[in-house]
Amino acid sequence: YTITVDPTAKGARIDDTMYGVFFEDINRAADGGLYAELVQNRSFEYSTADNRAYTPLTSWTVDGSARTVNDGGRLNDRNRVHLSLGAGSTVTNTGYNTGVRVEKGKKYDFSVWARAESGTNLTVTLKDADGTLAKARRVTVAAGGWAKYRVVLKATRTSSDGRLAVATSGAAALDEVSLFPRDTYKGRRNGLRKDLAQKIAALKPGFLRFPGGCLVNTGSMKDYSEASNWERTRAYQWKDTIGPVERRATNANFWGYNQSYGLGYYEYFQFAEDIGAMPLPVVPALVTGCGQNKATDDEALLQRHIQDTLDLIEFANGPATSEWGRVRARMGHPKPFHLTHLGVGNEENLPHEFFARFQKFRAAIEAKYPDIKVVSNSGPDDAGSTFDTAWKLNREANVDMVDEHYYNSPQWFLQNNDRYDSYDRKGPKVFLGEYASWGNAFKNALAEAAFMTGLERNADVVELASYAPLLANEDYVQWSPDMIWFNNHASWGSANYQMQKLFMNNVGDRVVPSTATGTPAVSGPISGAVGLSTWATTAAYDDVKVTGADGATLLSDDFSGDASRWTHTGRGSWSVQDGQYVQTDAAAENTMVSAGDPSWHDYDLKVKATKKSGK
Ligand code: AHR
Repeated sequence: YTITVDPTAKGARIDDTMYGVFFEDINRAADGGLYAELVQNRSFEYSTADNRAYTPLTSWTVDGSARTVNDGGRLNDRNRVHLSLGAGSTVTNTGYNTGVRVEKGKKYDFSVWARAESGTNLTVTLKDADGTLAKARRVTVAAGGWAKYRVVLKATRTSSDGRLAVATSGAAALDEVSLFPRDTYKGRRNGLRKDLAQKIAALKPGFLRFPGGCLVNTGSMKDYSEASNWERTRAYQWKDTIGPVERRATNANFWGYNQSYGLGYYEYFQFAEDIGAMPLPVVPALVTGCGQNKATDDEALLQRHIQDTLDLIEFANGPATSEWGRVRARMGHPKPFHLTHLGVGNEENLPHEFFARFQKFRAAIEAKYPDIKVVSNSGPDDAGSTFDTAWKLNREANVDMVDEHYYNSPQWFLQNNDRYDSYDRKGPKVFLGEYASWGNAFKNALAEAAFMTGLERNADVVELASYAPLLANEDYVQWSPDMIWFNNHASWGSANYQMQKLFMNNVGDRVVPSTATGTPAVSGPISGAVGLSTWATTAAYDDVKVTGADGATLLSDDFSGDASRWTHTGRGSWSVQDGQYVQTDAAAENTMVSAGDPSWHDYDLKVKATKKSGK
């Protein structure tokens, strides 16, 4: 096998920002993840209307009398529910995963908004099954209206199973109960969990795409105050996520759980700056995606979102004297955040409807901020008519950059190394905003690495690329594989993480053209366990069957159960006989796929999904 390199020839220039990360609040990546808050459901806003498994007391237990109240006595109009705790009663929070995680010797800021008719004492304790974890602290609530109270707890032991309890002597109303570690990434208040932020920072990402994904373009596009109860899943709207945390409305997100927005746009920009990454926010284009496929015809709503997008640019870049620059300055960052790229839309399945609205956003942004690159997208697939139509529209309108997404087998990644060799050099640039092969095994990382050499060779076309998703809490998984995994006390990078790190920490300046001749020899065992994974939402799919190339059923399941989302992984033993992949376990004896390339155990499977009628 011969590789010929020509060091004098100049290939594509590779930008330092080429490889970045895509953060989406999926798999509890924010609350219970990167956002360092230790109390779950701190403002009692979890609701059965959002998720059948939730109540306003989810993750709380009560000893004595307590009820959650949604009335005119609320803390504010975006934090509607509070807890009314009877005299002599105690309420206890169970945190995330196995509980509240504290480390010996570290300080934790406890805060609560409280209201009492007559002066009342609150006692704050932190315990696990083995006893106390910090000295109890007392807070005196003065008679009168809502006020914020704070005490500091210092952990005397390390535990991942802690329980935070608040006991009251007299009747009191409580809201926004928080326990926040002082030791956050870069010591920021309302900041990020250190080990996770450090793992992301260690990648040295060139950019940070946020906050989604399907999180951005699903649900209602209306404002919180306008959305009816069934519309409580609302598209990510940046203005909901800034300012004091008790004024950030909890949202029921697309991934089936509630997000507090404690990690919001200010924190994203701050984090991007802290890790030296270019911020790349994505706003909804008023067409829903991810299986929802609804385009709004409400022109006033569209114009409001366009204005919000212009305001976002002012929030990021405007002087501290401008309306939204002042908001940023008041939050603690008078200097601009240097926004240069902005995504409009995420995987819309209606290319014409999306593009008509995208063009309105683009025109308004370019008129006011001609230096901002407005990123379009190619829809959900890497192939097919939506993708082709979206690309045609983007190309004809000469957009700056098109966001592509694809998830596929490692085999596909190996076979498509040349994907961008034939892309039009004069057309829009590519932002590969989401990609991953199906798995976190070494072979997946290796296939991705091989593919990335193709991205790099085409760095004149592919300007940005990010693996997806970034984070997954092992106890709350909606999507797998993921780059970094964690629970409430530990985090670990996958093989794919290590591969991304290798590339991001060693970005070249220029491609050195090379050619290869010969065929590498194939050796090693070609039998063993193989896996497959796939996903869907029960809103759109039911009775899923996975079949081999010959049509025989390998896996089937009726996913009409309670879980609103599922991930299914099937495994079997495989070997190659007479040039064919054969399943050798007892369950079935189906010949699956002709062994085209015997050096790989992977095979192409088809997922057949029957659409539920009426959905
Ligand atoms: O990365 C997970 C999801 O994949 C994103 O939310 C969406 O954009 C894509 O379908």
